[in-house]
This record gives sequence, structure tokens and C-alpha cells, in this order.
Amino acid sequence: MAAGILTGERDRIANCANIAALMFNTLPDLNWAGFYLLQGAELVLGPFQGKPACVRIPLGRGVCGTAGQQMRSVLVPDVHAFPGHIACDAASRSELVVPLIQDGRLLGVIDLDSPLPNRFDPADQAGIETLATLLVDGCDW
Ligand code: SME
Repeated sequence: MAAGILTGERDRIANCANIAALMFNTLPDLNWAGFYLLQGAELVLGPFQGKPACVRIPLGRGVCGTAGQQMRSVLVPDVHAFPGHIACDAASRSELVVPLIQDGRLLGVIDLDSPLPNRFDPADQAGIETLATLLVDGCDW
């Protein structure tokens, strides 16, 4: 379904917006799904679905900043146990963040939040990593 949404359109904001809507409306038990896009040394809020969120996250801060800085996916079963977690929505209990990487360069991250503890598993991570690759290749960055 994601590949279909991306077909014929390379605008990154439009594609991220539709992928955020697709994730939020098809993956069960999410309270937030969206993007932070890299600007300088900060991740800046991009297209998303859910409650309004914090706008700027320095690399290295929170789950998003950790995934961005280390350029690897971070799966957090219990956000209360993650030192430095940034609570944008108090309802969030677990989180999955997957980096967008092109030729070794960080472009941003995909962030999924759930009100359920332990919502995400390695299969979710692998699926979102595939989605990240589709987006990186399917947009002009
Ligand atoms: N919890 C994230 C911040 C972004 S919100 O969840 C939308 C973090 O710790 O990086």
C-alpha cells in the first residue's frame, strides 16, 4: 500500500504526510505517527498524525534524537524506563523510532508512539525500516 501511495510523486513533504496518515490509520494502537526531519543538528517536526508535539529535538536527546544520532532504529518497550524520553503526549507508553538514511547521511526519523506498553516488536521494526527505505528512495531530499 505504501509503495502505491509513493508512486508518481517525489515531493518529500507530501509523501511523508501521506505515509504518516497511512501508518496512523492502519497500524493498531498508536497515538502518534509521524516524522522529524533533520535541520542542522536538530530534528524538526514534520508531517504527523496525533496530538501536537514538541517541534525541535536536538540530536542525542530523547528517543528520536538517540535514533538520529546513532543512525539506528530504537525500540522502547516502556518509555518510562528510557532515560531522557521526551514526553510529548503523556499517553505514550512505548515507542519505535527508525532513521531515514541516504548514502550514510541522516535525513530524519519516523516516530511511532503507542499508549500500550510493549506495543512494538522486531517485525514492526523491520516493516518500518522497509518503509523508511521506500521513502528515502521515493522522494527528492
Ligand atoms: N518521545 C519522543 C519525542 C517525540 S514525540 O513522541 C512525538 C522522544 O523521546 O524523542
